[in-house]
Amino acid sequence: MADTESKIHGEWSSRFAFILAATGSAVGLGNIWKFPYITGENGGGAFVIVYLLCVVVIGIPIMMAETMIGRRGRQSPVNAMKTLAKEASADSRWQYLGWLGVIAGMIILSYYSVIAGWALAYVLKAISGTFMDGSAQQIGGLFDSFVKDPGSQVFWHTTFMILTMLVVVRGVQDGLEKAVRFLMPSLFVLLILLVGYAMNTDAYDQGLSFMFNPDFSKITGNSVLTAMGHAFFTLSLGMGAIMVYGSYLPKNVSITKTAFMVAGADTVVALLAGIAIFPLVFANGLEPSTGPGLIFQTLPIAFGQMTGGVIFGTLFFVLLVFAAFSSSISLIEPAVAWMVENKGYSRLKCCVFLGSLVWLVGLGTVLSFNEWADITILGKNIFELLDFLTANLMLPIGGLLIAVFAGWVMKRQHSQDELQLNNKGLYYCWIVSVRYVSPIAVFLVFMHVIGIL
Ligand code: TRP
Repeated sequence: MADTESKIHGEWSSRFAFILAATGSAVGLGNIWKFPYITGENGGGAFVIVYLLCVVVIGIPIMMAETMIGRRGRQSPVNAMKTLAKEASADSRWQYLGWLGVIAGMIILSYYSVIAGWALAYVLKAISGTFMDGSAQQIGGLFDSFVKDPGSQVFWHTTFMILTMLVVVRGVQDGLEKAVRFLMPSLFVLLILLVGYAMNTDAYDQGLSFMFNPDFSKITGNSVLTAMGHAFFTLSLGMGAIMVYGSYLPKNVSITKTAFMVAGADTVVALLAGIAIFPLVFANGLEPSTGPGLIFQTLPIAFGQMTGGVIFGTLFFVLLVFAAFSSSISLIEPAVAWMVENKGYSRLKCCVFLGSLVWLVGLGTVLSFNEWADITILGKNIFELLDFLTANLMLPIGGLLIAVFAGWVMKRQHSQDELQLNNKGLYYCWIVSVRYVSPIAVFLVFMHVIGIL
């Protein structure tokens, strides 16, 4: 079966290729843009600890579950869920889980593309030397006037969407595999360089202690929800992205090992970004809680002062755009894969249709930073609302259902087969997590936030 199917469906050339693609999906704006600013907004150390705990206890087991479901189902998430539900003689309504993911992915991409557009715009600013010797005030002013201008944001958002869809039209593996292979390590090297710069500021210790000295009095129910939601977001979990990639995974590859490697790489990148940014925040007398503009208001100060800053700055934002790319592709791939499988339209048509839809929704995010900034629901503007809805609600709900499906619905023999965990203890840890720990944790956090507990 695997042979004939792999021809139709395509397969990664190796285990390494899957790790690259999954890491490419995981490492993105979530690590470098979002993690630092939500850490800043939620008081630092204690938030980081909750986030790390969620990655290990909930994230890795659910990543294994998602990869496994994808590999066994071998189709787009909606259809994979349908097939596996049938295999387990379970309710066919499980396929709606695939739907939840398709919609969540498209909403996330709508604002993801706007922020990736910011990074594109900053490539030009860096290359033209705009950051040279800029004070914190000047760099901050630069960002403010940029986000106040809907025109240029729409331009860059449109550019990013077109580029993304061009890659998606050609299929997941083509090009992506090669691009990620060389870009991810470069991004890593640049982050190390930035950390080196941060070490030389006199606020390095202060930055580190902000990130790693927990003050649990700063933690609220909402920050726990944000930390948990971010664990899903940063690992690309809860919406079927990893399921799609898993569906291209050859049979003989260890799902457990790959999950640990992907989660490990993702976490290291996020922590490095934080270590590079917070010393700059304190060295320049800025506030850690300024929100989504944080990296755009801090890193350019460093590029403006260091030797070779024009080159490094340009390179950094170029790589950030590429990291965003390899993530955005996985945000829309479940929708495209489903539409191609079920509607029989060409890949091109599906991409044009879905891409335009996402682009349109993205305009709401652009406007939420200027013209529509005052339009709020539950105290959140459009961008914040979309982010909350997806990262904090839809992904954890999706993740919870995936865990329940893998732990309770799938036959143990099948999950054992797929995970091939010869080590009984490890399999036991996994099944306890997907059966009890993850679902209960997600449920409790929700309950707490709703205010029942
Ligand atoms: N993980 C990516 C990031 O951190 C974003 C992302 C890509 C994602 N694909 C996803 C988030 C699927 C949730 C689900 O930037």
